[in-house]
Amino acid sequence: MAITIKSHSEIEKMREAGKILADVHDRLGEIIEPGISTLDIDRKGEEMIRKAGCIPSFLNYEGYPASICVSVNDEVVHGIPNKKNILKEGDIVSLDAGVIYEGYHSDAARTYGVGQISDEDQRLIDITRESFFEGIKLATAGNHLHDISQAIQKYVEDAGFSVVRDLVGHGIGSNLHEEPQIPNFKTVGRGPKLREGMTLAIEPMVNIGDWKVWILEDDWTVVTRDGSKSAHYENTILITDKEPEILSLTAK
Ligand code: MF3
Ligand code: CO
Repeated sequence: MAITIKSHSEIEKMREAGKILADVHDRLGEIIEPGISTLDIDRKGEEMIRKAGCIPSFLNYEGYPASICVSVNDEVVHGIPNKKNILKEGDIVSLDAGVIYEGYHSDAARTYGVGQISDEDQRLIDITRESFFEGIKLATAGNHLHDISQAIQKYVEDAGFSVVRDLVGHGIGSNLHEEPQIPNFKTVGRGPKLREGMTLAIEPMVNIGDWKVWILEDDWTVVTRDGSKSAHYENTILITDKEPEILSLTAK
């Protein structure tokens, strides 16, 4: 399947999906504190998504058992919420969520510190978020996809961290995952040309140590091989002829 260009009415639905998801993330960010379980976060997130009239897109996606991916410390992405997994002071936690509004998807992730965290961990979180914004500076119609990928990689590696290679961002629309795949690192070629009306989920995953990862026995949780901490930041964006529109972010 080729990369889809969204119509005005499709974009309107994706804006609404993005607005709802941004708000869910803002509110989930406020409940992160020592003592909360990763399952509490999932339950609250799912309730917020449903109350807003959306469907949590991750639930049952290829068998994934929850609505919010909650990944702690060396977990990169796709952590499975569990009531025995209690967040403690000094942890970092990545929340990844997706919603469907009137058939259209939005996908976004944030990483938070739990209570007081180390300067290095805070820097990891900041660099990961900033790398997204560095990348999307180049997300303009006429540029190539890999301009974004390379900008993210450069920003992260200049900061002394590494980008995960085994997972990538993706096109998004009436499906959670559409073409193209969006690596956060340089690969051969320039990738497809960006065009107005493309909607993309850009999602750097950044490790303090090496980029290599494993998947745990649960077949979902991706962890760093070296045990170093990892952060994730993601938004759904719309390509225009100027700056991209970030669909899944509130003014906050
Ligand atoms: N947010 C993930 C992505 O960007 C999707 C998670 S799929 C799930 O591709 F099954 F783990 F929920
Ligand atoms: Co995604």
